[in-house]
Amino acid sequence: MIGDSIIADPKLAPEGNRKIDWVAQHAPVMNNIFEKHLSDGALRGRRVAMTIHLEAKTAYLAVLLSEAGAEVTVSGSNPLSTQDDVCAALAERGVRVFASHDPSDEDFEGYLIRTIETAPEIVIDDGAELVSRLLIHRPDLLDNVLGASEETTTGILKLKAMTAEGALPFPVLAANDAKMKHLFDNRYGTGHSAIVSLLANTNLFLSGKAVVVMGFGWVGRGLARYADGMGARVIVCEPDPVKLLEAYSEGYEVMNSMQAAEVGDVFLTGTGNLKVLRTEHFERMKDGALLANAGHYDHEFDLAGLKEMAAAEREVRRNVTEYELPDGRRLHVLARGRLVNIAAGDGHPVEIMDLTFSVQALAAHYLAKNAASMPGGLQPIPDEIDELVARAKLAALGVEPEHLTEEQISYQKSWR
Ligand SMILES: NC(=O)c1ccc[n+]([C@@H]2O[C@H](COP(=O)([O-])OP(=O)(O)OC[C@H]3O[C@@H](n4cnc5c(N)ncnc54)[C@H](O)[C@@H]3O)[C@@H](O)[C@H]2O)c1
Repeated sequence: MIGDSIIADPKLAPEGNRKIDWVAQHAPVMNNIFEKHLSDGALRGRRVAMTIHLEAKTAYLAVLLSEAGAEVTVSGSNPLSTQDDVCAALAERGVRVFASHDPSDEDFEGYLIRTIETAPEIVIDDGAELVSRLLIHRPDLLDNVLGASEETTTGILKLKAMTAEGALPFPVLAANDAKMKHLFDNRYGTGHSAIVSLLANTNLFLSGKAVVVMGFGWVGRGLARYADGMGARVIVCEPDPVKLLEAYSEGYEVMNSMQAAEVGDVFLTGTGNLKVLRTEHFERMKDGALLANAGHYDHEFDLAGLKEMAAAEREVRRNVTEYELPDGRRLHVLARGRLVNIAAGDGHPVEIMDLTFSVQALAAHYLAKNAASMPGGLQPIPDEIDELVARAKLAALGVEPEHLTEEQISYQKSWR
């Protein structure tokens, strides 16, 4: 214990500090936003609660909010996506942490409940874990909440349902839907890091393998792109006919999941849906097939169904579980079906999360200043936040966007 934090091992702090310092060196946009916006006093004394995959990039966001004067409490948004050394470093730096890498279901729930019990004024959420628990378990604390922001597609879906029911008394900014978030993080960040994690954990070669990508949303597009870049034969399965045609037009093979189950060497899910791969798929898969999930929850594969089918289950490598079926075929599941890029790797590249967490930092800052005059329910991130983050990133790259002439501007506005 450091302060009232609950973490696995405070002695791990030196390694966690090195990881956070590395992020700080590679996050020019967050650093710029801290100097120009966060340090204006708007967040001073505010109680901020965060739950996002708790690794070094998230930790750096928590550190900056804390240095901006906020009283920050963090918990992990998903078992396995928390790094214990990072938690120790954060606790040492004065952030309250309730998290560990592989908690029991009961402990995981307990961490989230403790986090909401700090009576947050601003919530930075992932998967709507904190907001939903505030609504269900502690409605007495809702009056404290100025506003929240949401990190991922899965959380946005839940918040839309809450908004439709009129259940959200405070504004929630859809950080996931900011252009500077999903176009980069969901697509390039997840695609890049999921493939890196798949390769690092299996030590196998992707060239020539048939990689089946389930879902051609933002995450699926990234998975397909980076699998293609590693020389794989990419097959896309997607229920939306327009998106499936987009995948076809990108040059990928397209088919339904029953056909793909028979030919795939690797299966990557990124749908946000449940039981995308289930017993009827497992029955058709080849010996040695690899299954990895990049969607938010661990229910994109029907793991209970697979366990029931299996004659034997064993760990064959770190983060790789082998299920041997009665006919001798072996299916290999990475990271117990949890987000492969974060639960079995370091997550998105730093430069990508520099953009995402700049959006989140500015969202918290915006809520501190404006939430009192905003209506309840899910709201878009203001365009000026997207613009500010994009310009700060370009400035860090030394690149100027094109300037339009007066003649071009008036031409674009005329119709005669
Ligand atoms: N691993 C990460 O770091 C990371 C990062 C960002 C988002 N996510 C998560 O990834 C998931 C997808 O996010 P997104 O932004 O791509 O969402 P999205 O809505 O853009 O895309 C999801 C796609 O999956 C398709 N789909 C739904 N059910 C399917 C099925 N049974 N088979 C095939 N396709 C199906 C949908 O039609 C849609 O096109 C969400 O759970 C999100 O929270 C994870």
